[in-house]
Amino acid sequence: MITGKFPSLRLRRSRKNDWSRRLIEENSLSPNDFILPIFLIEGKNKKQSIKSMPGVYRYTINKLDLVIDRAIKNKIPMVALFPYTENKKKNSLGTEALNENNLVCQALRYIKNRYKNQIGLMCDVALDPYTLHGHDGILKSNYVLNDETIEVLINQSLLQAEMGCDVLAPSDMMDGRIGRIRTSLDKNGYKLTQILSYAIKYASSFYGPFRDAVGSKRLLKGNKKNYQMDFRNSNEALREVALDIKEGADMVMVKPGLPYLDIISLVKENFKIPVMAYQVSGEYSLLANAINKGIIDNGAVVESLIAFKRAGANAIVSYYADRLDKILK
Ligand code: PBG
Repeated sequence: MITGKFPSLRLRRSRKNDWSRRLIEENSLSPNDFILPIFLIEGKNKKQSIKSMPGVYRYTINKLDLVIDRAIKNKIPMVALFPYTENKKKNSLGTEALNENNLVCQALRYIKNRYKNQIGLMCDVALDPYTLHGHDGILKSNYVLNDETIEVLINQSLLQAEMGCDVLAPSDMMDGRIGRIRTSLDKNGYKLTQILSYAIKYASSFYGPFRDAVGSKRLLKGNKKNYQMDFRNSNEALREVALDIKEGADMVMVKPGLPYLDIISLVKENFKIPVMAYQVSGEYSLLANAINKGIIDNGAVVESLIAFKRAGANAIVSYYADRLDKILK
């Protein structure tokens, strides 16, 4: 790299005025960069706040228009659906995941029917909203079984694809599930249903508020370290992505977001595939609560989101995505 020398070179010259700063900006945010997570709740006419996530709500199906209309108007490409499941519908195997009238399936049918392809629909493939122990798979002696769990995930994927899901997002971290899900989708006529693999999902304390939002927090026994990744590792992250690409993933997710910018950039450098970053619930809560208390100003939101773009993310799953019009202003 060649560079000039002070005093003929003064980098502050181009920083003096706003027009000039805008002229040389390397990164920016557009609505196309966002995926909006939506929490669903049983019942009618509810828009229910979530204590640990100020500004985020759970919606009943008949209130979904509130949030979907706005997402489409703001040109957000895709929403991700997450159900709050009542305890009485949970069991140790998470069989509610395969109920074609579960909340996610109802929401998929409703949104697809009403909005067609105006917006993409993404769903988690994992059992944690449906299990009484809060784990993403089938539990035996406190260990999440891999191959047995995959069999259920395949059926969950096929069901969600049938109900209108455009992008299946396995977030369970079982080994080998992308390949098995891809093969089953293809065999059953869902060749064009995409897979966004949560290839890199770290066992993280930043998921706390999400587990609150979907009602699995108090149920969760132990932690998820025997399937989610160890945050001390980065080479392992590249191995995860390599496997999932071979198995047929269309895109990969890195999660959590901000503490893992190095991983986003490594994946982008090494594989040149679409990389999504998840600004998870804990990151959201830290920002939202600090802003509410006046500890930091809301410029911190844009600053954090731009960091994902700088690192190389193609899009960001963010609980702020429904307020972008305000944030980008
Ligand atoms: C579960 C799932 C989690 C998140 C998305 N899908 C939590 C977990 O693995 O326990 C976290 C998202 C967030 O914290 O915003 N499969």
